[in-house]
Amino acid sequence: MITNPSTKYRPFPAVALHSRRWPSRTITQAPIWMSTDLRDGNQSLIDPMSIETKIEFFEMLVKIGFKQIEVGFPSASQTEFDFIRRLIVEKRIPDDVTIEVLTQSRTDLIERTFESLEGVPRAIVHLYNAIAPSFRKIVFSMSKDEVKALAVEGTRTIKRCAAERPDTEWTYQYSPETFSMTELSFAREVVDAVSGIWRPTPTHKMIVNLPATVEAAMPNVFADQVEWMDRNIAFRDSIVLSVHPHNDRGTAVAAAEMAILAGADRIEGCLFGNGERTGNVDIVTLAMNLYTQGISPGLDFSDIDAVRRTVERCNKLPVHPRHPYAGDLVYTAFSGSHQDAIRKGFAAQKADEIWEVPYLPIDPADVGRSYDAVIRVNSQSGKGGTTYLLERGIGATPPRRMQIEFSRIVQERADETGIEVTPQGICDLFRQTYFDAKGPVERVAPNTVRFLGVDTPTTGATDVTGIAAVIAKAIGQAVSVVDIEEQRTADGKTAVFVGVRIGGTRGTKHGDQGRDESGVHRYGAAIRDSREMAVVDAVVCAVNRGARAAMSAEPALVAA
Ligand code: KIV
Ligand code: ZN
Repeated sequence: MITNPSTKYRPFPAVALHSRRWPSRTITQAPIWMSTDLRDGNQSLIDPMSIETKIEFFEMLVKIGFKQIEVGFPSASQTEFDFIRRLIVEKRIPDDVTIEVLTQSRTDLIERTFESLEGVPRAIVHLYNAIAPSFRKIVFSMSKDEVKALAVEGTRTIKRCAAERPDTEWTYQYSPETFSMTELSFAREVVDAVSGIWRPTPTHKMIVNLPATVEAAMPNVFADQVEWMDRNIAFRDSIVLSVHPHNDRGTAVAAAEMAILAGADRIEGCLFGNGERTGNVDIVTLAMNLYTQGISPGLDFSDIDAVRRTVERCNKLPVHPRHPYAGDLVYTAFSGSHQDAIRKGFAAQKADEIWEVPYLPIDPADVGRSYDAVIRVNSQSGKGGTTYLLERGIGATPPRRMQIEFSRIVQERADETGIEVTPQGICDLFRQTYFDAKGPVERVAPNTVRFLGVDTPTTGATDVTGIAAVIAKAIGQAVSVVDIEEQRTADGKTAVFVGVRIGGTRGTKHGDQGRDESGVHRYGAAIRDSREMAVVDAVVCAVNRGARAAMSAEPALVAA
């Protein structure tokens, strides 16, 4: 019998929340960020970080601007314990940064946790226990009252340990682990019981952290759960409401954003979404999402690649090339129509005006990326991308028809090799094709061209048509100029692009006067210090290409 595996699962129930407010709110300021890279992130690594690596990571988090950093689980391993001691003893914690440590609700573990924090000026002690039905039933075989008592007992022990160490400024954090899979009324009951013991005040708040330990529902459901807690828990004005979304359904970022709308003040997550299984919510994406809405996240990702490199090295895990904001390919367009739009967008974008470049949600420069990788050319690219890279490489823009011709040459190269053509490769190909076009005509001195051993002076002919006429005479063939573009480059040189038709007849039928009917049409180009030389060389290159094409009966790339 064929069974449908989906019958093993059941839908997540909706939250009974009347007149929910979060859908009509907007985010107006950044939440308090808490990095749990060194705790939750580290717990998920194949090779947990060494003390030295944790120190390096901690220093990077401080530099980015995190003010709350969960540094470890000191009762869980000696490395964790020793790392925290080093932070404290070596006075590595800046005055505006608070470290946080995690503990389970066991007296010996809590005491060991406080031991690790001896001498710290301020710290957050974070207690957690799982409260969802499946955990009560399957993992602990505990009743609701027993689960609640565990949280309450742990809180009492922490309160005692904190009172015994008055020189430290203590903040208490409680996480009803597996919150998002728990009956809301029971989650409130446990949280209220805990806060009833701790007794936070508006000036000395405690943190209630609501984890989606395993993301089990859509982000709107999580938002409903958070809003329900926001509306119903006791001591709300004395509580920092925090969320801790995991990414099992791939919607942790959305869940965190909606949770802010629903009343969350604080977000726990990891850089680039590292963390157990599919990860913790990605703080880089969250922060940059705020940034693109005109809200300063208070975290500095202006050199996102440096952050990424450090995280990749410390975690020994790669960041995906399509990662929002930080992936290698996220500011890159290969497709012709995208490249064209981006090129136009760059040209239209004014400094200090609202960013409006098509296909680029942010200015790559804001995360320390150059524009070099924005447009990359492969066999799917068109003239927009090729021209953009060429402009940047040679400092001048060929005429439109030449762009079309050259982009086909580039596309053929990409098709032949099956790989990307680099910006350098594009410029080299342009040079080989148009600047260095060897053939029967040669410029042998500044004002002299040679054809079949006979030298002809070009002196006197200053414009392209005049030079073309001199060369036409020298080679005994009609040479008509069909396209011309002359530009000054930024370094003061002259760029000349010229399209010529060699040979051919003129139309004689009524109305056809002046229209070329045949012959070979080719472009040539030159960039020279001297304008005269640029003109001569561009025409010589075009004629040589035309002559070569005529000899090989090569079809014209661009019809006249
Ligand atoms: O995912 C989780 O529930 C946790 C808690 C310890 C906060 O990491
Ligand atoms: Zn977690």
